[in-house]
Amino acid sequence: LAAGEKVITEVQPWNSELGDGVDVMPYGKPSEFEEHVKRRTVEWLTADPVSSINFTPLHELDGIITPNGLAFERHHGGTAHIDPKEHRLMINGLVDRQLVFTMEDLMRFPRENHVYFLECAANSGMEWRGAQLNGCQFTHGMIHNVMYTGVKLRTLLEEAGVKPSGKWLLAEGADASGMTRSIPMEKALDDCLVAFKMNGEALRPEQGYPVRLVVPGWEGNMWVKWLRRLEVGDQPWHHREETSKYTDLLENGKARRFTWEMDAKSVITNPSPQAPLTHKKGPTVITGLAWSGRGTIPRVDVTIDGGITWHQARISGPSLDKSMHRFYFEFDWDGKPLLLQSRAHDSTGYVQPTKDQLRKHRGVNSIYHNNGIQTWAIDEEGKAENVEIS
Ligand code: MTE
Ligand code: CO
Repeated sequence: LAAGEKVITEVQPWNSELGDGVDVMPYGKPSEFEEHVKRRTVEWLTADPVSSINFTPLHELDGIITPNGLAFERHHGGTAHIDPKEHRLMINGLVDRQLVFTMEDLMRFPRENHVYFLECAANSGMEWRGAQLNGCQFTHGMIHNVMYTGVKLRTLLEEAGVKPSGKWLLAEGADASGMTRSIPMEKALDDCLVAFKMNGEALRPEQGYPVRLVVPGWEGNMWVKWLRRLEVGDQPWHHREETSKYTDLLENGKARRFTWEMDAKSVITNPSPQAPLTHKKGPTVITGLAWSGRGTIPRVDVTIDGGITWHQARISGPSLDKSMHRFYFEFDWDGKPLLLQSRAHDSTGYVQPTKDQLRKHRGVNSIYHNNGIQTWAIDEEGKAENVEIS
């Protein structure tokens, strides 16, 4: 009998001895057998851990919600630890009434709940010039998808009274980086949230506790964490994060800027380099994620032969605006090598491009906004590798 089969023929300790009492872990943790499921960093990517990034282990997750402890972190000056009693949010600039809110003040406005993805504009940035990193955690893991609870930014701006000349908003963080971004008033009044909860519990410190800005569908950099100030102005501020950073240099020497919306994108999360096929030929499940900053994902196509034939994948779970969608494709693997790709279609009719199509348009100097189709090569053993095909 193989080791695993003894659970059928013999009584096991966990069957015959009492387990832990209810208070052993007042705040629960995953099973000890899931310890490998964690955020990971790529050492050579940044010079310093306080201005750095780690990645969501997409290949270990299912459904559409990212657990709070696994949501990737990106910060430019380390994680700030702020006592909510000491925290204030100020609105100043072109308003009728300059206001300062305590956290308690914020809780007295009507709240909303929404599931949104947050994707860093630099997600997949290392892949611009060719296949680099072996794992969807590293190629696509600068993304998370959680349910936010917060107050509509519009509600707070109405409380302050935006003057007719107020066309832009500067959001500022209370962390050491004092991060700032300009946001057009139209977006601020549309669907932005000032959020204090994620997946039902308080934001994690690394996600901006006690309060962060939620800018649905737009690049992660604009989702200012540890939000301390909103200034209303008549034009954008042209700060660092919207000039030297978060812009893309094109072949003609000009740079794209204010590229706020995240284009439709998808990735097969299983199998993938960190999650090979270990079960040999026969019934096989392919799964992955798709999202768009412009709406929902009505359709995802999957190919197992590098794009010669495409199959429509099955989307399962809620199809929410500007949220991740989960897709599956089941097939009978003949044990021969595979070239796996997925292609997202969004509700505007936009179709995710190939990396070659993207480069034709944007050249090879970009870092940000790489939404090209990802390819995994699977060999006869089931091992997966990051490759590019044309
Ligand atoms: N807000 C502040 N105050 N400081 C920061 O460094 N990083 C930004 C944004 N908001 C940042 C910030 C970037 S680049 C991204 S991608 C997201 O936060 C990351 O959010 P997360 O750490 O919740 O994943
Ligand atoms: Co970012």
